[in-house]
Formats: sequence, C-alpha cells, structure tokens
Amino acid sequence: MFSRPVLCLLVLPTFEISESLDISTDGGPINLHLCGIIYHGGHHFTARIRDQQGLFWSYDGIVNGRECIYEGTIPANLSVLDGRAACVVIFA
Ligand SMILES: *[C@@H]1O[C@H](CO)[C@@H](O)[C@H](O)[C@H]1NC(C)=O
Repeated sequence: MFSRPVLCLLVLPTFEISESLDISTDGGPINLHLCGIIYHGGHHFTARIRDQQGLFWSYDGIVNGRECIYEGTIPANLSVLDGRAACVVIFA
C-alpha cells in the first residue's frame, strides 16, 4: 500500500511558500499540497492552516484561545503572520 508522504520543511524567512510542491519518489512524481505553516517571533509560535478546499485559517492561542480565524483564499503574503516569520512549512 502506498501512502502519501508528509514533508515538514524548516525554512528561512526568505523561503517562497507556494500552495503545491512537486517531488519525485521511487513510485514516480507526486504533487503535494500545502497544509500548514508555523510562524515564530516574539517568543511565541502561531500557525496558518490550509484546509482541503484550499482555504486558509490562522491560529494564535494567546490572542484567540482555541479558535482558528477564517482568512479565506490565499493570503497576500504567506511568509508572515502578524509580524511573525514562517519557520516550518508542511506539505502532504
Ligand atoms: C512578505 O513579507 C516579508 C516581510 O515583510 C517581505 O520581506 C517579503 O518580501 C514579502 N513577500 C511578498 C511576496 O510580498
């Protein structure tokens, strides 16, 4: 049985984040989809989630508790969220 890989990339703030990523595997090329981004700054981590419809949600536990905030279609700049810089990008 073949399962899709999950790829977690540690990135520098200059990494250009796209909504999909093509990788080659022993089973041939596959296209992975962006599903999450973790941001860091000011001694605090926040996140952005991309759901299966390709819509974005932001998460900041200090500001909004357990709630994710709906952002809609692709935000203007995925590299930053409220002044924090992307540090981990997750594709699956
Ligand atoms: C996103 O924001 C960062 C930090 O302000 C900036 O350096 C970068 O150029 C921006 N990227 C785009 C695509 O606007």
